[in-house]
Amino acid sequence: MRKLSVKLVLTAVTLVTSGLFFASGADPVRAQLSKDLDAGRQLVETNCGDCHGVGETDASPHRSAPPFRLLSNHFPMDALEEAFADGRIYSGHPDMPEFIATPEQLDAIIAYIASLQG
Ligand code: HEC
Repeated sequence: MRKLSVKLVLTAVTLVTSGLFFASGADPVRAQLSKDLDAGRQLVETNCGDCHGVGETDASPHRSAPPFRLLSNHFPMDALEEAFADGRIYSGHPDMPEFIATPEQLDAIIAYIASLQG
């Protein structure tokens, strides 16, 4: 009898927690990704948007700066990630200031730029 009630309680707990999980629509991976994308969009709007087109359709304010949605025409996203792996974002162009990103910022920026590629 005692064994049975333990089992019932466990089943109830499992049902409730999985119910909560589905009810909240929580997919931890997706939730993290959309947080990264929001953070990445804000970072590039603030730090890169004076020169680069940072959205899905906008042209670049600086005429030599490629819009981010076209970056993968120049190099694959892996190469971008590798180039900035040490947190320094730079192009060597005199007009582009070097931007030092934390690993979290870098992940967010790369995730956002990757999401723009067609
Ligand atoms: C003051 C203007 C300016 C700002 C701000 C700026 N950039 Fe740039 N960026 C440029 C210019 C101009 C180029 C073109 C370099 C070239 O053609 O050699 C460039 C090139 C690049 C490239 C290389 C593209 C290629 O095909 O070689 C990347 C990647 C890049 N920028 C990322 C960023 C990121 C990320 C930020 C924000 C953290 C940023 N830039 C901020 C002006 C800027």
